[in-house]
Amino acid sequence: MMQPNLIPTLDPNPLPAPYWVFKLLLIVTFFLHIVAMNFMLGGGVLALVSKWRSKNQPKGNRVFFDVAKKLPVLLPATITLGIAPLLFVQVLYGQYFYTSSIIVAWPWFLVLVFLTIAYYGFYYVSFQSGQHHGRAGGVMLFSVILTFLIGFVYSNNLTLSQTPSRWGGKYFSNPAGWNLNLSEPTLIPRFLHFMVAAVAMGGLLLVFMALANWKRDTEYARQLLQFGGKGFMYATRAQILVGIWFLASLPRDMRMLYMGDNPLATILLLVGVAGGIGSIFLMSDALRKENIRVAAYYVPGIVGVVILSMSVMRDILRNAYLKPYFQPD
Ligand code: HEM
Repeated sequence: MMQPNLIPTLDPNPLPAPYWVFKLLLIVTFFLHIVAMNFMLGGGVLALVSKWRSKNQPKGNRVFFDVAKKLPVLLPATITLGIAPLLFVQVLYGQYFYTSSIIVAWPWFLVLVFLTIAYYGFYYVSFQSGQHHGRAGGVMLFSVILTFLIGFVYSNNLTLSQTPSRWGGKYFSNPAGWNLNLSEPTLIPRFLHFMVAAVAMGGLLLVFMALANWKRDTEYARQLLQFGGKGFMYATRAQILVGIWFLASLPRDMRMLYMGDNPLATILLLVGVAGGIGSIFLMSDALRKENIRVAAYYVPGIVGVVILSMSVMRDILRNAYLKPYFQPD
């Protein structure tokens, strides 16, 4: 049922281009942002695991420092590719996104502080080398935790932006802006869904690094392939459980969208699940046969389709949440 329209539009002028143009750009740029974020965050996590497992042996340190050198590029890529969906989300959902941003004002503002510190941290680690690595491990861990926190603030803000019924209570409980959206039942599974995916994609980053080293240094390339490929497989297996938890946490009518009520959402979920399971089998086969082509071309191709499907599913979910208040088109 449509509620009385108490939330005014952001701008009395109509959209300066057709609705579908903004929607397409929002989904495509969000997809690019999430891919860059996944490589950065997942790469950082796997670099730490490699360092920790190797107990400072040169082999594990090499993976650590090789990944570390990529992070000062991947972080600004994440930011730049985040600005585009930020613009489109404001055009289409501005009155919802601004309101929730004001309610979670301080954590939202802290994103900038965390980003700056994490950026310095990634630079510090990238300037260290295997021989003189100082506090590289600790600094990397700290920066990775800060980027986790940034993702968490985003999930808080975005889930709050699509549930206007919570705004009043939250705002008046702390008008100064020290709020999160912790009482939202979908928050933790949704956030974990993003973070587990990031680890899987970090695994694919290592597979790409293996491809780049395949002819030059085969032994190291095989080590990267095995470590990255296994990271991808374990995280994607865990994702099946997290995904089920996320689906189960949704309100019943939203969940049913993916179970037949909305044909497109249902097909996209099937594509996502089939792609996820298929990519696990394909990667496992590629690791057994040390087939870099399959690991570095076919698996990422399938995963790209899965992430794109999930990005559209996420958009369908937002529109369903906002339907009683607002239909952006
Ligand atoms: C570097 C650390 C960052 C991480 C780990 C991160 C992570 C995330 C995650 C997990 C989401 C999805 C949240 C959800 O739907 O529950 C998200 C969405 C988003 N991020 Fe980032 N992000 C980062 C930086 C940025 C920056 C700096 C910007 C902008 C300049 C940005 C712009 C966006 C936008 C606009 C969305 C939502 C798009 C939409 O609702 O369609 N992100 N981010």
